[in-house]
Amino acid sequence: MYKILKAEQLAANIYLMDVEAPRVAKHCLPGQFVIVKMDEVGERIPLTICDYDSEKGSVTIVFQPIGASTTKMKDLKAGDYFEDFVGPLGRPSEFTEMDIEELKKKHIVFVAGGVGTAPVYPQLKWLHERGITADAIVGAKTKDLIILEDKLKEVSNLYLTTDDGSYIRKGMGTDVLRDLVEKEGKHYDVCVAIGPMIMMKFVCLLTKELNIPTIVSMNPIMVDGTGMCGACRLLVDGEVKFACVDGPEFDGHKVDFDLAMKRQQMYKSDEGRALLKEQEGDTHHGGCGLCGGDK
Ligand SMILES: Cc1cc2nc3c(=O)[nH]c(=O)nc-3n(C[C@H](O)[C@H](O)[C@H](O)COP(=O)(O)OP(=O)(O)OC[C@H]3O[C@@H](n4cnc5c(N)ncnc54)[C@H](O)[C@@H]3O)c2cc1C
Ligand code: FES
Repeated sequence: MYKILKAEQLAANIYLMDVEAPRVAKHCLPGQFVIVKMDEVGERIPLTICDYDSEKGSVTIVFQPIGASTTKMKDLKAGDYFEDFVGPLGRPSEFTEMDIEELKKKHIVFVAGGVGTAPVYPQLKWLHERGITADAIVGAKTKDLIILEDKLKEVSNLYLTTDDGSYIRKGMGTDVLRDLVEKEGKHYDVCVAIGPMIMMKFVCLLTKELNIPTIVSMNPIMVDGTGMCGACRLLVDGEVKFACVDGPEFDGHKVDFDLAMKRQQMYKSDEGRALLKEQEGDTHHGGCGLCGGDK
């Protein structure tokens, strides 16, 4: 059992929890995720690691209630427990394996959308702790949905924008990135984009035009998180990849976003799931618990 040490509401529909999970906290790196389960029969919920404290043995998650399980999860309080808190899962961000002196020469820009701000924070913090302060563009629909502003300011050069102009400036993260490059003459060696798939797709279209290599963190439907069920299948550079074990981070210019978004939609109906199973046969081999399996 994994004790919730802190539970707080960050914004209108965004919640933060610190969870006591010493083994996960000791081993995790930026870019990785956990799968949580509220009770024995609970659904498995993949969530990106937003922060971790290996001395305290705690891991921070930030989530947005969108369906049955996450809506139930928002009612958990400090002192309650998760039945399972499995991780760290997925591959750490590529830069964690790079030579620090080489990394220091790079100009990095992060573009985050909505709750995607949470997974961007540990990456910026990791870099900042090593003397690298990257630019971070954070976009939210309105002022009320901006999260972690103070924490982000400590570890990055922060540019905030809101779709409706209710805070700082009006427009999307892509507008800010274009202005920084085209009006302010900034040069970036790499862009990291994290947020809803549609937002990552548009960041990639822009960075292709601006010739900036781009990494994205994919968040398809996941079930087992071990590469066995096929639910998180993606097409990257024409090859089948599983976000849970090959990612979640990929070269954004090689990801087939249209297919990824189509699959996400198809998982929403019984008919769509049956069709996926029929089309993908052995690759989506039916053990995912969503399509009903090969019974
Ligand atoms: C690697 C990874 C990291 C993630 N990190 C975070 C995070 O840090 N914070 C956060 O709030 N969410 C994150 N998510 C998404 C989160 O896992 C889903 O929102 C959650 O599982 C939905 O569970 P539910 O039972 O409440 O909703 P469900 O009842 O399962 O679904 C409700 C609706 O949301 C859709 N949906 C379900 N899962 C996803 C998904 N992965 N992406 C888009 N739509 C989905 C369903 O199709 C359905 O329409 C992450 C997902 C992945 C794969
Ligand atoms: S969640 Fe990735 S293969 Fe099952």
